[in-house]
Amino acid sequence: MEFISKTFPGLEDILADELRNTGARNVTPARRAVYFSGDKSTLYRINYLSRFSVSVLSKIAGFSIRDENDLYRKSLDIGWDSYMSPSDTISVSAVVDSGIFRHSGFAGLKLKDAIADYFRKKSGIRPSVDRESPDIIVNLHISGSSVTVSLDSSGEPLFKRGYRKGTGPAPLNEVLAAAVIRLSGWNTNDILIDPMCGSGTILMEAVMYASSMPAGYFRKSYGFMRWKDYDEALFAEIRERSNKAVKVPENIRVKGYDISAEAVNTSRRNIKAAGFEEIISAEQKDFMELLPEAPSGYLIFNPPYGERMKNEDLTLFYERTGQHLKYHFGNYKACVLSPSAGPVKRIGLKPSARYRLYNGPIECHLLVFELYEGSKKLKNRNIT
Ligand SMILES: C[S@@+](CC[C@H](N)C(=O)[O-])C[C@H]1O[C@@H](n2cnc3c(N)ncnc32)[C@H](O)[C@@H]1O
Repeated sequence: MEFISKTFPGLEDILADELRNTGARNVTPARRAVYFSGDKSTLYRINYLSRFSVSVLSKIAGFSIRDENDLYRKSLDIGWDSYMSPSDTISVSAVVDSGIFRHSGFAGLKLKDAIADYFRKKSGIRPSVDRESPDIIVNLHISGSSVTVSLDSSGEPLFKRGYRKGTGPAPLNEVLAAAVIRLSGWNTNDILIDPMCGSGTILMEAVMYASSMPAGYFRKSYGFMRWKDYDEALFAEIRERSNKAVKVPENIRVKGYDISAEAVNTSRRNIKAAGFEEIISAEQKDFMELLPEAPSGYLIFNPPYGERMKNEDLTLFYERTGQHLKYHFGNYKACVLSPSAGPVKRIGLKPSARYRLYNGPIECHLLVFELYEGSKKLKNRNIT
């Protein structure tokens, strides 16, 4: 079977590695996606384990078209009754980059009509559309004249991990948080601090990663559970086997701080809901007053980028953050995710690595700073 794992721009390579390690075959990175092949158990395993996939599509047909009606005609040839019953509800999502269709919505409508007519001819009943909670999500991708029709096996996007009980004003997407941890190269023997933790996404993803806890550990449902060929026993076995491998490292240290009491409360609620109270602590503190409690470690965070601050305050904030890192966190590695167009340069430190990522539509950079004891001796820009 052929599958397509969709992800955010910049994460294709780490996703490809993850898929290879999870038993996928013929792994081929593309734009915002990675193609792979495998069987039903590969599909279930990847939905349950993948930290970097947003959704996993299962390809059911591929063909080329000359015009709009070709899409309708060739979609009628798909054996839809292998995948769904006429009593199922459906939704169709379409992504189109083609001269044949100018509107993706219209292409989606053609496909939906084909599915409806297929069943009407066979049984006199047509599946109805449900955009909120459909049984079957059909995905249409048209690039030039080339059409791919898939079913979305994930249903709700996989960044909905199921552990969030509350969010702050600018929560980090879970897939992105997991990616930032992976790219930071965090050694789980070292302390990990998120000094601006907001709702605690980085802290939660860090513990899940360090414990080999499946990304879907707290999640209740997946799209494939509503499929005709759903193998409940197989999925239960995959879950059980994966859950057996969960082991929280003995000396793990994961700590969050935030200047906002509200954010700390939200973090604590999420931590408690996941049962991580013994592992993660979250306290209210201004970063400018935070001092290291271990001689070395990792600071991984996404600072505010203007949700609540004026531009000049934000510039000063980044300058002071850079100074504080430089003067107090020698021997630490600081990994800062921030919009590329923002004042992140004002941090005034030279990154040893940078990764271009996207937080939704916003282009960001993950900047990695190796802070040395000697950093303190670097030229001090006078900031008051
Ligand atoms: C973009 S949000 C972080 C979102 C977080 N990663 C999440 O997933 O929810 C930035 C956070 O920085 C916090 N913050 C702002 N100034 C701070 C400071 N001086 N010290 C500590 N935290 C601060 C804000 O309260 C906010 O929660």
